[in-house]
Amino acid sequence: MNYFRCKAFCIVLILFCLASASLQGQKNYKADKKLQQEFKDNFVKAVSQYKLLGANRPAGKFPKTWFPATGKYEWSNSGWWCSGFYPGSLLYLYEQTGDTALYKEAMIMLAELEKEKNNTGTHDLGFMMYCSFGNANRMAPLPGYNDILLTSARSLATRFNAKTGCIRSWDSKGSDFLVIIDNMMNLELLFWATRFSGDSSFYKLAITHANTTMKNHFRPDHSSYHVLNYDTATGMVKQKRTAQGAADESAWARGQAWGLYGFTVMYRETKDRKYLEQANHIANFILRHPSLPADKIPFWDFNAPGIPAVLRDASAAAITASALIELSEYTDPKKAVSYLKAAAVILKTLSGNSYKANPGTNGGFLLQHGVGHLPAGTEVDVPLTYADYYFIEAMIRYNKLR
Ligand code: GLY
Repeated sequence: MNYFRCKAFCIVLILFCLASASLQGQKNYKADKKLQQEFKDNFVKAVSQYKLLGANRPAGKFPKTWFPATGKYEWSNSGWWCSGFYPGSLLYLYEQTGDTALYKEAMIMLAELEKEKNNTGTHDLGFMMYCSFGNANRMAPLPGYNDILLTSARSLATRFNAKTGCIRSWDSKGSDFLVIIDNMMNLELLFWATRFSGDSSFYKLAITHANTTMKNHFRPDHSSYHVLNYDTATGMVKQKRTAQGAADESAWARGQAWGLYGFTVMYRETKDRKYLEQANHIANFILRHPSLPADKIPFWDFNAPGIPAVLRDASAAAITASALIELSEYTDPKKAVSYLKAAAVILKTLSGNSYKANPGTNGGFLLQHGVGHLPAGTEVDVPLTYADYYFIEAMIRYNKLR
């Protein structure tokens, strides 16, 4: 065998081994058929819930939440960080059921959302544009989607600062430069932009942000801070604190879930094993935490004072379940089985009466008991668009398991 043939053979062999290793992990897990059937029923019920939500939606507005105590909705405009989740959920549900009314409603929302491609005042463009247009483009590409997504990636990239090595999350004054762990979720859009355009600068920027986050945002136990304040003059970290968690040193549940999902995507997109290790560490932190209840729906903060008499957060649970199912594709068989078992417990709990709303209730949202921003007293113990989005995504991912 000549050198080049031998090299090609070795590469094919390595790729084959990697592929079989990941298949092996999932092969050792037997998907729960009853649960998969239940998810199919959930999709059908979700369609009628989302039609209710759509029927109540004022023109030009995006669903934000609904308050069980008053029966009143809160709506947002397209600039709110969650504006991509409602169209994204409609598209996922259309994909599962073929109900064209949902696709039509999604198209109305995308038309409203498109202008945000030029929004350079937020880091949330990944959430807003990739969960919506990204899914639309994947499912049924239309002329214009690529341009909208690329423009969004360019807008997001304007927030990168070479001194700090990060994309700015929230605007601030002076030399303050605020970065939140949630920002890991916006990087997927940048990877798409490099794949589509061939411009590697988006890819490099995502890697730099992830590496800086890995270095500074995490504690020795692999939990993460919510907010880091960098100094734009020196690039150094000035402050590590929280905004939505219980305390600066606590582990805000959704923040841990964003980190888990974000580093899983980093491994998918780069195949750099340091990101896989990071995702495994975060998964261990979540799944082995002494305050995680047996049903695996976390309290809103792993260190919330008053546990167990405090609120759970269905959104953190749904994001975690979806991330664990993807992570199980990449990790060793033993971990894969434990991740899939944990994800199944989460999804089973969310599908039960305590979390899944009865048809015709909950304002048309699917899940109850999400916690948006408890310290600010906003969106506390309510349905949330992102809880629904990641719940649907996780069920779709689980139903693909054999
Ligand atoms: N800042 C996004 C979130 O509440 O998770």
